[in-house]
Amino acid sequence: MNTMETTYIMIKPDGVQRGLVGEIIGRFERKGLKLVALKSVVPSKETAETHYECHAARPFYPGLIKFVTSGPVVCMAWTGVDAIAVARTLIGATNGREAAPGTIRGDFGMDMGYNMIHGSDAAETAAFELNLWFPEGLMQWDNLMGAWVYE
Ligand code: RTP
Ligand code: MG
Repeated sequence: MNTMETTYIMIKPDGVQRGLVGEIIGRFERKGLKLVALKSVVPSKETAETHYECHAARPFYPGLIKFVTSGPVVCMAWTGVDAIAVARTLIGATNGREAAPGTIRGDFGMDMGYNMIHGSDAAETAAFELNLWFPEGLMQWDNLMGAWVYE
């Protein structure tokens, strides 16, 4: 079944450092997703640890927390039909060397850790992450372009 969803998307510090913010946001816009929250922050250790708590036992976890708190990230919420899976498809496989051309990681990435962008992987994780990064809530607005995105 097709469901209207909102997903949490975050450009990681490497994507900001490499000047890819506009390029990455543009891909979500052009796809036809609707932007319902946007801000840039340097994540606190606490927020980063909560965000990645499912990986807490993994060997790469300390390095991942250090990396994601090392500088600004761009936090976004995007809405659309099946937005969680659609965004994961735009993002591509975790390792940029294996990600398909045309995806963000496939076009710009060469590494597993430095893969520029995060996207929620399921409805429950999206709800958890949106609440974590946007406790102030999301914007409600009518996107007039939507009439030409969905038949
Ligand atoms: P993300 O959560 O950031 O959207 O990425 P993902 O779903 O594609 O990958 P996930 O398995 O959730 O891993 C989260 C992030 O941890 C780093 N990682 N490093 N060295 C390693 O083996 C390893 N595995 C994962 C990556 O930065 C990955 O995006
Ligand atoms: Mg993940």
